[in-house]
Amino acid sequence: MADYDFDVLVIGAGPGGYVAAIRAAQLGLKTACAESRETLGGTCLNVGCIPSKAMLHASEYYDQAANGSFAKLGIKVKPELDLDAMHGQRKDAVKQLTGGIEFLFKKNKVEWLKGRAAFTAKDTVKVGEREVRAKNIVIATGSSVTPLPGVEVDNAKGVIVDSTGALELAKVPEHLVVIGAGVIGLELGSVWRRLGAKVTCVEFLDQILPGFDGEVRKEANKIFKKQGFEFKLATKVTGAAVKGKKATLTVEPAAGGASETIEADAVLVSIGRRPNTDGLNLEAAGLKTNQRGQIETDHDFRTSVPGIWAIGDVIPGPMLAHKAEDEGIAVAENIAGQTGIVNHDVIPSVVYTWPEIAGVGLTEEQAKERGPVKTGKFPMLANSRAKTNHEPDGFVKVVADANTDRVLGVWMIASVAGTMIAQAAQAMEFGATSEDIAYTCHAHPTHSEALKEAAMAVTGKPIHI
Ligand code: FAD
Ligand code: NAI
Repeated sequence: MADYDFDVLVIGAGPGGYVAAIRAAQLGLKTACAESRETLGGTCLNVGCIPSKAMLHASEYYDQAANGSFAKLGIKVKPELDLDAMHGQRKDAVKQLTGGIEFLFKKNKVEWLKGRAAFTAKDTVKVGEREVRAKNIVIATGSSVTPLPGVEVDNAKGVIVDSTGALELAKVPEHLVVIGAGVIGLELGSVWRRLGAKVTCVEFLDQILPGFDGEVRKEANKIFKKQGFEFKLATKVTGAAVKGKKATLTVEPAAGGASETIEADAVLVSIGRRPNTDGLNLEAAGLKTNQRGQIETDHDFRTSVPGIWAIGDVIPGPMLAHKAEDEGIAVAENIAGQTGIVNHDVIPSVVYTWPEIAGVGLTEEQAKERGPVKTGKFPMLANSRAKTNHEPDGFVKVVADANTDRVLGVWMIASVAGTMIAQAAQAMEFGATSEDIAYTCHAHPTHSEALKEAAMAVTGKPIHI
């Protein structure tokens, strides 16, 4: 240690990096974390998971009051939107949570090196004016928005925006066009639709929500359409022109054909995210990225250069905060000589729309490619709690191996699917069969009973349908 400044230097203080730094410090390693943002917490806490959920939560209540859902419960209200106050509570949530990480750094004696980090050698990094040597360096630099050529984002102007700009629109747009009907497009599209915008999603593929189970994608499409979303599928945007506060988009069929124009007063570009490695000077460390710009690692999160590790959005795999966090813990434990493992086959994914959409493991399509499967499905309409709460949309689906009954995947659309999916993930982590879930006692009346009955349906024995 004598000539090293730190045992561990983490680059990036998102959910991957800050968790890795805290765990490393907890394990007795002298740790620093370089972060160039003004506040800790990365994309997730500053401009991602947290502010988007603050806007989703608030807009959901507004919508329920405005669309008659409260009236159905015998509550008569006429909502009035105070968008400044809604933004205010979003900013408060971000401030409190990012401040919380700063507190945790102090508590655990993690030193925050403020500034952009760049390698000068394989064990040396320059952060601002300071050069530090570390025995282990963890790259956790995350990702940022993939740009769309011809559609230039200008968040300050507020007409063509990315997710960061879309969280902060100063007024409700009359017509919001979302480019890309993936997770961000549907979540942030939902926020502004609930607050009164007409929302059109232009999607390159012929279906929304890539990566999700086929039946879930179709059902989600139906539900969103019923809510007022308009989808232009198999369509590509070829250009955009901004005049004052209006944008004109040119679109054409993805397969080619006649183009048309769409007028919008806000455009959200949400076509994916790409890893952040620009300016890191990876060459000085002897590191290369793959064709997708990601840093490749082995199962322990070691890169090809001894002493350099990488986790989170900057490495292959789903770009999710909880995946980054789990990798943060595992990498710190591996550095400390323990056995840190992440089971990448069981990473849940949640879209926080209304209702929520969640999945874990293999889709039915993926499972069928590997061998024979059995599936069981249960509609939320037949779940007593969902019915009582006036939440009839959606279903739960269990995909199991036809020979062993082992659960391979669980997919669901339900008001509280984001919470329910944790049980499915835990069951899969323990190697459960559908019978194990079917014979586990679930409290009544809960939405979770729908998972039990979907598991019962795998062998053909649900009670309530
Ligand atoms: P990041 O959170 O991106 O953090 C990386 C940090 O590194 C950044 O703060 C950056 O400033 C810093 N950095 C980069 N380069 C350098 C450098 N050279 N020197 C110093 N610092 C550097 N995921 C979910 O699981 N659930 C959600 O609900 C969810 N909602 C989202 C909503 C939106 C609008 C967006 C955009 C994303 C959302 N995500 C969500 C994805 C989630 O935010 C990411 O998967 C997660 O933040 C990745 O964590 P990370 O630690 O790898 O990187
Ligand atoms: P995404 O990959 O979910 O969706 C992008 C969509 O854009 C896809 O449907 C794709 O087919 C489409 N697309 C790509 N190019 C296009 C083009 N030129 N024209 C029209 N459509 C095009 O990416 P998104 O929504 O930007 O989110 C980025 C990442 O952030 C995701 O990987 C996700 O994991 C993460 N995230 C997670 C959330 C959550 O967990 N709830 C919430 C928000 C983001």
